[in-house]
Order: sequence, then C-alpha cells, then structure tokens
Amino acid sequence: MLDRRRILNWLLGGSAFAWAGSVLHPVIRFLMPPPEQEAAVSAVKATTLTEMTPNSGKIFKFGRKPALIVRRSDGTFTAFMAKCTHLDCIVQYREDKERIWCACHDGFYDLNGTNVSGPPPRPLDALEVHMQGDDVYVTRKS
Ligand code: FES
Repeated sequence: MLDRRRILNWLLGGSAFAWAGSVLHPVIRFLMPPPEQEAAVSAVKATTLTEMTPNSGKIFKFGRKPALIVRRSDGTFTAFMAKCTHLDCIVQYREDKERIWCACHDGFYDLNGTNVSGPPPRPLDALEVHMQGDDVYVTRKS
C-alpha cells in the first residue's frame, strides 16, 4: 500500500513538473532576447570624399552596429566601432575639440581611438579605411 502511494505521488509530481516546464519554457523563451547575430560584413561604404569636409564625423551602420568615421583636419580618414568602451553608449565626433566624445559620462578618445580622459577603460575598436575613387570603404582590421 505504501509503495503504491509512493509511486502514485512520484508520478503526480513528475506530471506536475512536466506541466510546469511546458508552460514556463515558452514564456521564458519569449521574454529572453534572441542571441545577437554577428553581422557577416566585410566592407561597408561609409561615405564619399565630397560628403565629408575636413574636421567632421559621421555615424554609419557597420552591419547591425553603429560605427564612426572621422575626416581629420588634414583630410585623412579614420574609423572605429562607435560603442563606448565604458558602458556602451554611442560616441560622436566633437569638431570643436577634434576628439571623439561620449556624452554619457564625458569620456574622450583621441583620433587614434585611444581613451584620453573620463571613465572609458580602453581604446575604441578600430576599423580600416580604404579609398576607392571618391568612395570611402571601411573593413574590420585584419
Ligand atoms: S558610456 Fe561612455 S563614458 Fe560612460
């Protein structure tokens, strides 16, 4: 008798556990965001020579992520992923200081992407710039 009751309790407990799992699993899957797919991007046209004047910056999409291209005062280009290395805010180019700036906590990077003041703990992730006629393309660093 005791064994039959124990078996019945075990079966009911297992059924309740299976039912709870079948209800909770879809709810948890719905609430959790899907894993971010890394964009399979090799080269992106970021700008053109005529679009950007010297000492200016532009945010563009590198795959699904924001990137920043800067045309220095001497006319050369440099590009970085635009995500601040402190807490992931989007950085921007400050023409008045000729630096890359994160408005969230007043962090600054120089035009090599090196963190120079404020809380950012490391440099920006650099990208490579390639010229093709009037077009300016950006690729990942090899
Ligand atoms: S997120 Fe950029 S300085 Fe804090």
